[in-house]
Amino acid sequence: MDTILKATSLNKSFGPIRALSNINFSIKKGEVVALIGDNGAGKSTVIKILAGLFRPDSGSLQIAGKQVNLKRYSVRTARALGIETVYQERSLGEKQPLWRNVFVGRHLKNSFGFIRVKEEKALTLAMLKNSIGLKGVGISADALVCTLSGGERQGLAISRAMHFNSALTILDEPTTALAVKEVAMVLNFIRSIPEKGRSALFVSHNLHHVHEVADRFVFIDRGMIVHECRRDAMSLAQLFTTVEQLSMTPVPGRENQ
Ligand SMILES: Nc1ncnc2c1ncn2[C@@H]1O[C@H](COP(=O)(O)OP(=O)(O)OP(=O)(O)O)[C@@H](O)[C@H]1O
Ligand SMILES: [Mg+2]
Repeated sequence: MDTILKATSLNKSFGPIRALSNINFSIKKGEVVALIGDNGAGKSTVIKILAGLFRPDSGSLQIAGKQVNLKRYSVRTARALGIETVYQERSLGEKQPLWRNVFVGRHLKNSFGFIRVKEEKALTLAMLKNSIGLKGVGISADALVCTLSGGERQGLAISRAMHFNSALTILDEPTTALAVKEVAMVLNFIRSIPEKGRSALFVSHNLHHVHEVADRFVFIDRGMIVHECRRDAMSLAQLFTTVEQLSMTPVPGRENQ
């Protein structure tokens, strides 16, 4: 099976905090990988590096078999390479109207190079209504992202990911602000990703969800990958036990973090 993403020896510190140490992992085409770990383990930091938001201090990244130049890697490049990210925190571009937020980095353009604004606005509205069924009163494509509720923002980001049918969809706690029905839609969406040969990286503290949708689990503890396992080889009960043990194992030299 081909590999869509391969991260090698990623390191990242924030001042004195060593957020990631020697992170190695890969995601195959058609695979849903869950990144599992405690609060502060480094999950979002890994995701932000893959999404082009943070630059690692060292390490390398291959996307679809090609080495990425991390010095030039950005959110735009990541998107252009087919990586779509649904962030845990409020999505980027708070002051942007919804349609721009959806199409940034991949605008529809006419033959003169002008953005096809009308079409982008219409598509944005259709996306919001159809993909996860958001019915916010009077949502318009011109509304600013910062005027949406938390659930609506996650909905927008998820709709975007669904619409662009990206090679790799990264979802960092995508369901925290959603209602039950919307959660089911998002889980169904993640489950459907491999059918099209696409891949996903999924972060969630809800181990039921993780076990339901992921093919493989990657465990991260205090910035290090400590274990990997295929779902076939780990029952839900074993998954709970593994996570419990993770947070109790002391890491030599890092007891104070
Ligand atoms: N922008 C930042 N500046 C400084 N420190 C940061 C920054 N982002 C993350 N950190 C630190 O890096 C470590 C890893 O954080 P990260 O957000 O990746 O954790 P996480 O696994 O996503 O946790 P959670 O499950 O709570 O979302 C933490 O100690 C955090 O405080
Ligand atoms: Mg996080």
